[in-house]
Amino acid sequence: MAATRGVSVDSKANPLTWGAAQTLLPQPCALVIFGAAGDLSWRKLLPALYNLNVDGVLPSNFAVVGFGIGAEGDPDEWIRQRAKDGTERFSRRPPEDSHWADFARSLFYVNGSFNDARAYGQLKARLESIDQQFGIPGSRIYYLAVPPNVVGTCVEHLKSAGMVASPSDTRLFTRVIVEKPIGRDLESAKKVIADVDKAFSENQTYRIDHYLGKETVQNLLVIRFANSIFEPLWNKNHVDHVQITVAEEEGLTHRDPKTHEVTGSRIGYYEGVGALRDMVQNHILQVLCVTTMEPPWSLAADVVRDAKGGVLRCLRPLSREDVKTSVVRAQYIAGDVNGEEVPGYRHEVREYFTSRNQPAPADSTTETFVAMRLFIDNWRWADVPFYIRTGKRMPKRASEVAIQFKNVPHILFNSYPDVPLEPTVLALRVQPEEGLSLRIASKLPGPKVRIYPVKLEFNYTASYSATTPEAYERLLLDVMAGDATLFMRRDAVEAAWQFVTPILETWEQSRERYLPEYRAGTWGPLEADKLIEADGQQWRTL
Ligand code: BG6
Repeated sequence: MAATRGVSVDSKANPLTWGAAQTLLPQPCALVIFGAAGDLSWRKLLPALYNLNVDGVLPSNFAVVGFGIGAEGDPDEWIRQRAKDGTERFSRRPPEDSHWADFARSLFYVNGSFNDARAYGQLKARLESIDQQFGIPGSRIYYLAVPPNVVGTCVEHLKSAGMVASPSDTRLFTRVIVEKPIGRDLESAKKVIADVDKAFSENQTYRIDHYLGKETVQNLLVIRFANSIFEPLWNKNHVDHVQITVAEEEGLTHRDPKTHEVTGSRIGYYEGVGALRDMVQNHILQVLCVTTMEPPWSLAADVVRDAKGGVLRCLRPLSREDVKTSVVRAQYIAGDVNGEEVPGYRHEVREYFTSRNQPAPADSTTETFVAMRLFIDNWRWADVPFYIRTGKRMPKRASEVAIQFKNVPHILFNSYPDVPLEPTVLALRVQPEEGLSLRIASKLPGPKVRIYPVKLEFNYTASYSATTPEAYERLLLDVMAGDATLFMRRDAVEAAWQFVTPILETWEQSRERYLPEYRAGTWGPLEADKLIEADGQQWRTL
């Protein structure tokens, strides 16, 4: 297929800002990261904060305090070193001496266990002295990067240590960021929500889903509602179906490419969780909401969140029979990803537990891949199928939302049923190479009328010549500014679990011992192809 680079940035045009950037500014505060010794902080949060520092957009009075166990030697020096290492490896910009020194001086660590009341006393005292040093008025953001069963303990201790300001306090604020997973089914999610509720009001609570901070996901709103040509077509009359793919190349274990030794593993978290809970319940359903919601009448947090909630409430519930016919789960077996041989998931599980002298679950049935067909039963989307798929150890990292429009009538250029015209597809690439493409039919040059599909392409990096900020950068700033638009309200979390829980229950009750398999480095099991082919469609080639 030909690709035309048909988009350039109009340099004379005035960029308009919208949303938080227009009215709300990040406010002075201390950000306390619970679980700062963990992976999320190392890979995402600390590098994101460094980039915000380089961009000069952090509040003028600001400090970061890590809290938890795990620091070695001088805790402040340890976290600074850890942050530097994470930034060197994962940041969109490498640490640069002058910026780094400035960032590092506002980075601290308090060693302590989450269930030790004394540790909270120490944290509080440290925060008060940091407030003085940095001119912070006592405002706090607590980032709970901890497992869901620890959330209640942290919140309780914060409350009893007097570290949570009233939501009506006008001099300073306390906000809490709650990381996923929020529970492992509807009941446990309600428990996590209730635990947080004991100390924080809903408008102090920011339930984060980092997919909502991704540039393309936000761009979906702009594409839909800042252009006149898409929204009239964005409904059952013109859309044939929608495909949402989130494919990951990585498995659950990282190895040194040369020695094949294990350098990191997420099995401890992932085993017994699986792709449905890890990716579908949150990220994919949130992306689906942004793709399909009704136009919100403003960008105020609750207006947007009401619009998204409207989608979740209209998801057609899946009966046990539907789960069998509309949902496919699978597990990767040994294979080859980009020339590198990798073991299967069950092998990784055994390896993980045996290396810790723990009993390995026999024959894990945790899914590393899910595909499903779902419907949104509202006026706009009635009977339009939505196909979603996500998996680990796929051939490449590639995520997109693709809107396939209906075929043109079988007359004129489309009059040969054996060789139908390729349908028009608008594909929004979430990653990598954020951007979008519109596939349309065009005439091949020459005396005969021969039709050929071409792509109109827009690529962020090429058009704006800048690296796009990481999702966490945008979201952290929003919390500092008190803008909850891109965060999940409790009803959204519950509605998403409401949809997903019957699938989990059906799987659990089936007690199947073997899931369909796919070789690592392929696009999933045959069953997933059959699912979409039964409707006369195919998964897109990415
Ligand atoms: C996390 C999941 O929420 O998102 C991971 O727990 C997944 O399993 C990750 O790999 C994907 O995020 P991104 O931004 O790399 O697409």
